[in-house]
Amino acid sequence: MSNVIYLDGNYVGKDEAKISVYDHGLLYGDGIFEGLRIYNGRIFKLEEHVDRLYDSAKSIMLEVPMTRQEMIDAHVETARRNGLQDGYIRTLVTRGVGSLGIDPRSCPKATVVIIVDKIALYPAEYYEKGISVVTVATRRPAVDALTPRVKSLNYLNNVMAKLEVNMAGAQGGIMLNHDGYVTEGTADNIFVVKNGKMYTTPRFVGILEGITRNTIMDMAKEYGLCLTEEVLTRHDLFVADEIFFTGSGAEIIPVVKVDGRTIGTGAPGDVTRRFIAGYSATVNETGYPIFE
Ligand SMILES: Cc1ncc(COP(=O)(O)O)c(C=O)c1O
Repeated sequence: MSNVIYLDGNYVGKDEAKISVYDHGLLYGDGIFEGLRIYNGRIFKLEEHVDRLYDSAKSIMLEVPMTRQEMIDAHVETARRNGLQDGYIRTLVTRGVGSLGIDPRSCPKATVVIIVDKIALYPAEYYEKGISVVTVATRRPAVDALTPRVKSLNYLNNVMAKLEVNMAGAQGGIMLNHDGYVTEGTADNIFVVKNGKMYTTPRFVGILEGITRNTIMDMAKEYGLCLTEEVLTRHDLFVADEIFFTGSGAEIIPVVKVDGRTIGTGAPGDVTRRFIAGYSATVNETGYPIFE
């Protein structure tokens, strides 16, 4: 069965889902996106993703041509038409079709796309054995340049970082900000466990405020664990007992090596394992129902 894609109010097949080469999303990366997951016939954290989408839109003065509720409904309907119990949703809102100059005023209407598809998960081995990561030279942009809080279509910064990861033969990357503090992975947030306490990087260092990150923070509270947002250096990573990445796509991935230093025992630790199991239960038990 061909995927059904939402495109500007219409549900079309994959081959008909085309946008103009004059769309500023393509010409300038002028737009925003979200990546969501479907688990067990429900869209996980749908409202949170839609809220972040509208926050990104507000920040870049992009008018989304539908209400939040219409956006929620369009997600549910697209998911329903695709009939998937488990899958991935990619939502794009671009500045729309305009002239060849950058001026957003030449774009009268934003383009909205919702793609539902199966997700190619990382190899199971990553979750069982953990991954090896390197610090990349490409810095996360300063919050006063292009704040990573906006989930913009301009992901070249992350792509550049990913190229470095690939060239190093690693599975993941750590991105620093211009002060040398740890921000996040190339498309994931980071958590550290040390002496029974947990840490994650604060928003002001320049990170995307991940929905998975916030879910982990809620879970830590439920578990009665001490988790604080703290500025971290590479040293904090080198001497950590456990490290893991979080993201809607990646879910929770243990990190067992950073720049050649073995983290903890070199295998995923107990805290990480607890969150992997807890997260799996949460995503399968909660979410916005598609088929009811
Ligand atoms: C740069 C970056 N950081 C973190 C994340 C994790 O965010 P979330 O948990 O909302 O998927 C993503 C997700 O795509 C990302 O692109």
